Amino acid sequence: MIDLHERLDELEADGLRRRTRLVDGPQGPHVLLDGRPVLLLCSNNYLGLADHPRVREAAADAALRLGVGAGASRLVSGTMTVHRELEDRLAAFKGAGAALLFGSGYLANLGVVAALARAGDVVFSDALNHASIIDGCRLSRAEVQVYRHCDTEHLAWLIAQAGDRGALIVTDTVFSMDGDIAPLAEIVELARRHRLRVAVDEAHATGALGPGGRGAVAAAGLTGEIDVIVGTLGKALGSYGAFAACERATAEYLLNAARTFVYSTAPPVPAVAAAGAALTLLEERPELVDRLAAAAAALRAALAREGCDVGNGSTQIVPLIVGDAGTAVRTCELALERGVFAQAIRPPTVPAGSSRLRLAAMATHTPEELDTAACTLAEALCAVAS
Ligand SMILES: Cc1ncc(COP(=O)(O)O)c(C=O)c1O
Repeated sequence: MIDLHERLDELEADGLRRRTRLVDGPQGPHVLLDGRPVLLLCSNNYLGLADHPRVREAAADAALRLGVGAGASRLVSGTMTVHRELEDRLAAFKGAGAALLFGSGYLANLGVVAALARAGDVVFSDALNHASIIDGCRLSRAEVQVYRHCDTEHLAWLIAQAGDRGALIVTDTVFSMDGDIAPLAEIVELARRHRLRVAVDEAHATGALGPGGRGAVAAAGLTGEIDVIVGTLGKALGSYGAFAACERATAEYLLNAARTFVYSTAPPVPAVAAAGAALTLLEERPELVDRLAAAAAALRAALAREGCDVGNGSTQIVPLIVGDAGTAVRTCELALERGVFAQAIRPPTVPAGSSRLRLAAMATHTPEELDTAACTLAEALCAVAS
């Protein structure tokens, strides 16, 4: 039996113990964190919609009219109209025949991957895919071949080795801890050539990239070319939950085979209504996506001016890689003391030796705030290094 205290002590000694911090008030660009006002630079509330008045109102109104809980899995107590309406809108938004809601992005990836592959199949998974995809692979019991990050030559080689057992290629589109974008066109081309399915996770691309925030698949001109697109409602759309967008027949299959859909209560009504309101806002104000891109570019430029290596990504997620877990934690604490909250990300979320501050720009950050934050972060990095 694991000695839990001993295990916690080990994590502490390795600089890997995690704790949550207390936020007082909504998730805006500024928060009161453990009682201290700070600039929030690590939230996935990219468009600032989590506390938008219309999003709040939609949640409150839905709760008053329809209640809160969905009661059961939809296969048991039925699909409520709010769920169906949002699915139809999300399908149209992603240019897909259908969409199926899941309780969260974690549950969506778990359910989708495990439904699309089974024992005897081979799944090809990018080395930096999100934990929920990794766990979906495990649940599928398929053989998993992990290809080097974004390396389509390695992927092609693994596909050739697998012969006719290849079933599925799965990848984040925007990688959650690195902010770079998967080579989607090459992946689709390989999948077509070898008759494989492709599932992608647009958790950090939905609402953030592509025309009107339709995602990295749309940005790459690949709408209609991907078997299943997972998107989340808890990040740019400011609510909670997730969806899989796909052909109608695939959705029908997932409804039967995705265990996290079948055996889990449908998402709560206010969260679904809130996501619907966020989607309406996004449709009405596509400039929010441009504003996010501008904030991302401003943050990257300000950090580069301060001499920080921000890699060659272009999205709103900017990794400041420091290497060692302890260094990442100390840098985070120092930046916090100076009013900037950028969470340290350590193994197992990222590979050993690549601990980092994972920065996330928001459409609601001003260029001045991002300039000051870059300066603060550079000072903190410098102080910890010396
Ligand atoms: C790439 C990616 N996929 C899936 C998830 C899980 O989404 P959710 O937070 O809705 O469970 C996350 C989030 O944290 C993520 O970063």
